[in-house]
Amino acid sequence: MLPHQLIEQRLQQAVKAVLPDADVASVLVRPCPDTRFGDYQTNALMALAKARAMNPRQLASAVVSKLEVGDCCEKVEVAGAGFLNFHLKPAALTQTLESAARGEQLFFAPAPQPRTVVVDFSSPNVAKSMHVGHIRSTILGDCLARTLRLLGHKVITDNHLGDWGTQFGMLLAAWKRGLDSTSLKADPIAEMERLYKKASAECKANPAALEEARQELVKLQRGDEQNLSIWREMIALSRAQFDAIYERLGVKFDYTLGESFYHPRLPPLVQELRAKGIARESEGALAVFFDDIPQLKEHPALVQKSDGAFNYTTTDLATLAHRLETWHPDEIVYVTDARQQLHFQQLFGVFHRWHPQARVKLAHVWFGSILGDDGKPFKTRSGETVKLSDLLDEAEERAFKVVSEKSPELPDARRREIARIIGIGAIKYADLLPNRQSDYVFSWDKLLALNGNTAPYLQYAYARIRSIFRKGNMEQGISTVPRSQSLTTNDQSPVSLHLDTPEEMALAKYLLNFGLVLEAVAQDYRPNFLCNYLYELAGRFTSFYENCPVLKSAAEQRASRLVLCDLTARVLQQGLNVLGIETLEQM
Ligand code: ARG
Repeated sequence: MLPHQLIEQRLQQAVKAVLPDADVASVLVRPCPDTRFGDYQTNALMALAKARAMNPRQLASAVVSKLEVGDCCEKVEVAGAGFLNFHLKPAALTQTLESAARGEQLFFAPAPQPRTVVVDFSSPNVAKSMHVGHIRSTILGDCLARTLRLLGHKVITDNHLGDWGTQFGMLLAAWKRGLDSTSLKADPIAEMERLYKKASAECKANPAALEEARQELVKLQRGDEQNLSIWREMIALSRAQFDAIYERLGVKFDYTLGESFYHPRLPPLVQELRAKGIARESEGALAVFFDDIPQLKEHPALVQKSDGAFNYTTTDLATLAHRLETWHPDEIVYVTDARQQLHFQQLFGVFHRWHPQARVKLAHVWFGSILGDDGKPFKTRSGETVKLSDLLDEAEERAFKVVSEKSPELPDARRREIARIIGIGAIKYADLLPNRQSDYVFSWDKLLALNGNTAPYLQYAYARIRSIFRKGNMEQGISTVPRSQSLTTNDQSPVSLHLDTPEEMALAKYLLNFGLVLEAVAQDYRPNFLCNYLYELAGRFTSFYENCPVLKSAAEQRASRLVLCDLTARVLQQGLNVLGIETLEQM
């Protein structure tokens, strides 16, 4: 067991001994923000004390008196308003590093109680191109799914494609009247967007056009063969485009159940809501009112419009029901932009009325917008929304220029491959690094910089460590799977760690935080914790490497320092992998 897990387990036992009724699931340890005060810290006792009107410092002292962590901690202190600070024993630190060097763990461990988690992300709309807004959902959602999987949870990813709804009435009408087949072949999405724009302008100006679109929609919903087959073609063309982007981003989905999948479920669902008195009629439509939820009092959720049509909320309710029946998840995570907050509050509100017994945790993980230099939503120079594929092309192109300047001697194909990994990685990292709830300004220079908190910087940090092993002629041994086998002294006995300098100590302790950071990412749905951790790790490695000779030091110290190098490289690589970013052995 890793030190932080051991401490957490013993801490929970001690809390139970003092407060038998306490729910200890929230009693967690975190890395100490200021390492002068300790290695791990918990603030959980203050909340427990507050809930019981107890003196927090007294509670903390009582817990310490029941705490048995002598095997891994040299000191536990009550601090501030009732924090507990834990100081790790040096032996516990070196043992953990040595076991990592043997390949037994990499400072994280599978969750003791794995959860089943559905992650609903990306979810673009058919007949429209994926824009930069969808990129954040795709990249964030993929990172959360990877993190949860790495921590041993059962993850189901579902791309909730927008493939149903009123826009298809207009699209069908325009398709039948004015499809340009040549343009459709050349750029299907562009042609469908043209049709949609034309139709929606016509519908605004002309009631007859609106009526025609409505008729086409009704025909589609009734299963008209011609309309169905055009609709299927639109989906197939769109999906081919989406899949090409997912391929470039390395993103995979377990399921792509679009909105249309739930269509047959909608009438009985609304029937049930009505029969149970959850939804009631209001101005011809059917709505759910939330008199008991202050922020939703003014915002009833519509589940059927006055013309009988179902909407986004109705479909999402059916989706929820399907997921519960099929996968029995403990948690469902929805990743969309901030503008959908009200929708998800309403959805969760209706759901809890409908399934009051359900124990599933529902989370809306929302994010802010990407802005241009001018502080307005990111647009192309001519003022159009930026297409995701163009953005990825440009990232690769810019990276290719830099690589070609730095390493003109490399063959073209190799430079292209390096540029792909750097370009895509840079875009992803720029999306993951900011606090997801704040808007961020998109800047090519910033995200591709080799200095600063960027993907290229971290990829470079990784490649630089790997070059140490190449210089030491250990390339082979270290890159094959049980890398640790090569990390032995000459007589093949396992390496023992010597953390003689402050820099070695600081790096070693920071490596141990990797697992706690992953857990925090999964808990708060915030990949920026991991970005900042990796950046700080690279910084600590630099201080270590500048102050502690590795290849030039004597045998035992050399071996010990090489272990630190190798573990840092592995954590960087694993961390970047969780962010969906590839690494290069040489840059
Ligand atoms: N298609 C929607 C959009 O582009 C996002 C869907 C999010 N997922 C969901 N279950 N509502 O805005």
